[in-house]
Amino acid sequence: MNILVLGGAGYIASHICLDLIDAGHKVTVFDNLSKGDKKNVFQQSDFFYGDICNIKDLDEVMKKNKFDAIFHFAAFKAVGDSMIAPEIYANNNIIGSINVLNKMVEYKIKYIIFSSTAAVYGEPEYIPIDEQHRLKPENYYGFSKIVIENNIKWYSKLKNIRYAILRYFNAAGYDVKGRISTIEKEVTNLIPVAMEALFGRREYLPVYGDNYPTSDGTCIRDFIHPNDLASAHIKALDYIMTKNEDLLVNLSQNSGTSVFEVIKAIERLTAKKLNYKIVNRRLGDPTTVIASNKLAFEKLQWQPQYSNIDTIIDTTYKVYKNVYGEP
Ligand SMILES: NC(=O)c1ccc[n+]([C@@H]2O[C@H](COP(=O)([O-])OP(=O)(O)OC[C@H]3O[C@@H](n4cnc5c(N)ncnc54)[C@H](O)[C@@H]3O)[C@@H](O)[C@H]2O)c1
Repeated sequence: MNILVLGGAGYIASHICLDLIDAGHKVTVFDNLSKGDKKNVFQQSDFFYGDICNIKDLDEVMKKNKFDAIFHFAAFKAVGDSMIAPEIYANNNIIGSINVLNKMVEYKIKYIIFSSTAAVYGEPEYIPIDEQHRLKPENYYGFSKIVIENNIKWYSKLKNIRYAILRYFNAAGYDVKGRISTIEKEVTNLIPVAMEALFGRREYLPVYGDNYPTSDGTCIRDFIHPNDLASAHIKALDYIMTKNEDLLVNLSQNSGTSVFEVIKAIERLTAKKLNYKIVNRRLGDPTTVIASNKLAFEKLQWQPQYSNIDTIIDTTYKVYKNVYGEP
């Protein structure tokens, strides 16, 4: 199939492009490189430098190619920034996505696979979070994704677009076959920040509170490896096409790892001491976030294979070592 990958030069999408190429699809990466890296675009795919906020860019790429499906990763994702500059998130994430939906209608592209997030749920009312859990985002980023989800659902009803909305939890780790060579820019997530501390790019890893009601006092999160996300995306496309049915599922590991467990795993696997410091809790950080992946299993027969913490740390460490040298 002929597939357009919006935001395809980014961290998660580059892993999905590898699987799409392996599966024999023709891939066009569309990215404005605001956060992504041209090195994440593989030689087997085409690259189009463009912005989803620019209608002319979308027209140009869609006029040139007859796409069968769109994988939509293009978004800003920094929770803190979204609370400071919601207007940037409204424009990039919401307006950009509505442009994409309108162009899908105009160019008769039927299928969309959309990257949504755990942030749509907000503070968990129960664990594991399932897809029926109420939606109450604690930040504008999560809100922006709900608005897009709702628009996709309306376009499905009114314009016969078929969608897969995939809600990822904490993506971490790098390609297990070592085919990705770049690290993310301006990182805010636990594992890349820990790597920066390990490689002396920052003084220490801040641990936001060690007095939570968990066995070691630190928060617990559900990590998911991008190779596992990739296999789920391929299955999701197949599902919505063969069943002609929409899909909305969590993509998670269904189990959690605490911040201290992550730190211990890093020290054990790298045989290095990680400098960390306990600092104040952050506002709005839930104690435990674990999501059910039961529905993804039922619908897609998908289960994570690479999302154990050792594989996540090991693959991340290798890429950082290639970029920065020995810590
Ligand atoms: N990383 C996570 O843990 C996580 C969790 C849940 C959901 N998500 C979602 O997954 C998607 C991919 O996330 P990621 O971690 O790979 O982030 P990323 O920043 O590495 O990738 C996003 C890509 O989109 C591009 N982009 C952004 N705005 C654009 C625009 N207007 N036009 C064209 N390209 C644009 C960026 O340059 C980048 O290459 C995002 O939609 C994000 O919200 C990520």
